[in-house]
Amino acid sequence: MQPAISVLGMGRMGSALARALLAAGYRTTVWNRTAEKAAPLAAAGAEIAASVGDAVAASDIVIINVSDYAATEGLLRNGAVATALHGKLIVELTSGTPDGAREVQGWAARHGIRHLDGAILATPDFIGTEAGTLLVSGPDDVYEAARDMLRALGGNVQYIGADPGLANALDSALLALMWGALFGALQSIAVCRAEAIDLETLSKQWSSTAPVVGGLVADLIRRSAAGRYAADAETLSSVSPHFGAFRHLVDLMEARGIDRTITDGYEAIFRRAKAPGVICLPSRRCLRSPDRARRPGSCRR
Ligand SMILES: NC(=O)c1ccc[n+]([C@@H]2O[C@H](COP(=O)([O-])OP(=O)(O)OC[C@H]3O[C@@H](n4cnc5c(N)ncnc54)[C@H](OP(=O)(O)O)[C@@H]3O)[C@@H](O)[C@H]2O)c1
Repeated sequence: MQPAISVLGMGRMGSALARALLAAGYRTTVWNRTAEKAAPLAAAGAEIAASVGDAVAASDIVIINVSDYAATEGLLRNGAVATALHGKLIVELTSGTPDGAREVQGWAARHGIRHLDGAILATPDFIGTEAGTLLVSGPDDVYEAARDMLRALGGNVQYIGADPGLANALDSALLALMWGALFGALQSIAVCRAEAIDLETLSKQWSSTAPVVGGLVADLIRRSAAGRYAADAETLSSVSPHFGAFRHLVDLMEARGIDRTITDGYEAIFRRAKAPGVICLPSRRCLRSPDRARRPGSCRR
């Protein structure tokens, strides 16, 4: 028989989680600090709890999806709610840090509460679909018992390990990749606008370039795993050509007055990567002696 489930937090994500559970046939109780936001879920078949205590009492599994762990703490860590949770399972789907998840598990264990921590790698429109990705960590037997319910939230549920902090750690690692792409997109848009390239053209060409970038990222991960950092016979593109192309971008941005906050960070990393070797730029500045007049090749040793 399917377990009853309560969901605390009816923001954008919490509402999507509750709707996915209802669609999968779970008896679902919802609670939200601002009651009006929970009301639409009643029409979809959810029970509305008047308090956190009522929501906890209604189910053996309690999913939490609020803004941050401090908000979760404010909801759960009072005597009555903690006592009511004894013997139940909490699934923390609020975003947080690895150490935050480990701390929650310690608190839960001290109160006889089972605990899983999950990181949602999806926007609400992916929840309840095959493409919805959830990373989950915590004791494997607890995960196994909750797996069917988690699959109702997203077809791609991945168990990351027993350490409850692992899901958040991998989430942060993947978000680092995502923000690299998103901040890069903002720079691309600024360059296109400065050079009067319409953004539909950018969008179209990005679609054809994305697989190349995906291949480079996958190659970098493989090489790091193998400790193969130096250029070798399988290297497709070493640091130098990247740096040359990068300098063209920097020159363009300087000429058009585009903000260089992000590229200055990239440049510092390129400089460190190139420091022990030859540093002669096909560009207007010499990195070793920035004040020297540009004479390509003059500083080669
Ligand atoms: N949206 C996404 O695409 C996405 C993707 C992955 C992960 N997440 C994660 O999911 C969580 C929720 O995100 P969201 O997009 O649903 O945010 P949201 O729409 O802003 O909703 C935030 C929710 O947290 C509740 N809340 C905030 N502070 C609270 C407190 N002190 N006590 C009780 N409830 C409190 C809010 O209640 P009120 O309605 O009363 O303010 C609301 O239900 C976050 O941890 C976020 O990082 C979101």
